[in-house]
Amino acid sequence: MLAIGSDHGGFALKQEIMEHLREKGIAYKDFGTDSADSCDYPIYGEAVARAVAAGECERGICICGTGIGISIAANKVKGIRAALCGDCFSADMARRHNDANILALGARTLGSGLALRIVDTFLETEFEGGRHARRVGLIHEIETR
Ligand code: RB5
Repeated sequence: MLAIGSDHGGFALKQEIMEHLREKGIAYKDFGTDSADSCDYPIYGEAVARAVAAGECERGICICGTGIGISIAANKVKGIRAALCGDCFSADMARRHNDANILALGARTLGSGLALRIVDTFLETEFEGGRHARRVGLIHEIETR
């Protein structure tokens, strides 16, 4: 199960991504927002992050205007590694090297064609482990200090 959430800035792109996921048969849970009315991105970033951190969802996708605010909010939740990606190479590396568990996207910085490719890359790429697992472990040690 995938968690997905956005603010008003990401609402239209979220609708396109959810349609894309339905076409691919990928199950998701939508944590809002439910319209293009102005709202506050930390609420949705936290909701997606909590679902992933609790294990209710394996991975998440967060969208706001730039992807910056919602990724900052998601990364405040323990256990979350949210990666803001504007290209497929970054999405690939965020999975391979960083084991990113949330993809953040900027709806105002990306066309939807590229955004969907980034989503596919994020969902299809596995973590490489090895030396990268040590580094991800060091990130989580920061959370204990
Ligand atoms: C909302 O206007 C905008 O600030 C938000 O979508 C996002 O870009 C914040 O980082």
